Amino acid sequence: MLQVKGIFVSNYFCEQDLYLTLIMISRRKFIVGSSLAGASVLSGNKSLGKPLADSVFAGSPIAISTWDFGIAANAAAWEILKNKGRALDAVESGVHVPEADPNNQSVGYGGLPDRDGRVTLDACIMDEFGNCGSVAALEYIIHPISVARRVMEKTPHVLLVGAGALQFALEQGFKKENLLTPSSEKAWKEWLKTAKYNPEINVENRLFSPAKLPGNQYNHDTIGMLAIDSAGNMSGACTTSGMAYKMHGRVGDSPIIGAGLYVDNEIGGATSTGVGEEVIRNVGSFLVVELMRQGYLPEEACKEAVMRIIRKKPETAKQIQVGFLALNKKGQIGGYAIQKGFSFAVCDQNDQRQLIKSPSYY
Ligand code: GLY
Repeated sequence: MLQVKGIFVSNYFCEQDLYLTLIMISRRKFIVGSSLAGASVLSGNKSLGKPLADSVFAGSPIAISTWDFGIAANAAAWEILKNKGRALDAVESGVHVPEADPNNQSVGYGGLPDRDGRVTLDACIMDEFGNCGSVAALEYIIHPISVARRVMEKTPHVLLVGAGALQFALEQGFKKENLLTPSSEKAWKEWLKTAKYNPEINVENRLFSPAKLPGNQYNHDTIGMLAIDSAGNMSGACTTSGMAYKMHGRVGDSPIIGAGLYVDNEIGGATSTGVGEEVIRNVGSFLVVELMRQGYLPEEACKEAVMRIIRKKPETAKQIQVGFLALNKKGQIGGYAIQKGFSFAVCDQNDQRQLIKSPSYY
């Protein structure tokens, strides 16, 4: 461990990271530069590539979310944000879109099931006051994010799981539905032909290939959304059907506050996608927000969170995808992933359909 002006710097830091840290310590502010330094715009407004570091949030709402399906989710969120609605309502409404989409096999209705053929959903939501609610391993409810919101608003608890979460949802008037679509059932039955019913870590990642990214069923897995409303308040939501063919009862990062999602209305928010176990082990989204608190730009904070995963388990990291996405209170955005192929969608007053290719370690 090295000590620089009373701040401990991990030995794991490479020279470049240490240099960056020293710059940040000396300025004790954000580094001037693009918040999208390593990102490239896949489509939409090229002005996003301009430096944003000096832009101070001035009542202009923004929504960002993981993957290309985030574009449609952002559009729904924008309907609320553009009318001066609350960010909490925007993120809930936004993630309803992939949750209800039967063609999206990684979120909500139509999600790929667990090894037993059961679609079990994880979701969490967090508001500008630091309130949060989660559900995990919830079955039969098409919008787990809304159940998570009810947990936050109607109970003294943060997290309800399994049968208890379903009981609560039904008490709250949510409808019980079959979430296993014919195409997801077919995919599961196909998987069963070769799958052993022994617990295997991330068995669905056995066929992982970065070349298949983005959008393949192994990695294109979660919608995490962050939004700032016209009052300058931030909320976030995260929802998924989790890893395909997981063990029944497995819970990923998405409903775990601090792992799959974290929002601090003073600093910013972060969310994650990919192999949840590694995100939980590193309390990824909380880490990203805390790094932003120390002065890291969103992309730098996401990169450091990814590097923690890689440094701890370099061999595992070669085989998996994890991506982080962050938004700070200035409206600056950034993402970083282990593997190529992670993308995120950005929606602001200039352009509601921007898709950004995230930088990555590999
Ligand atoms: N990130 C989603 C999961 O691991 O379940």
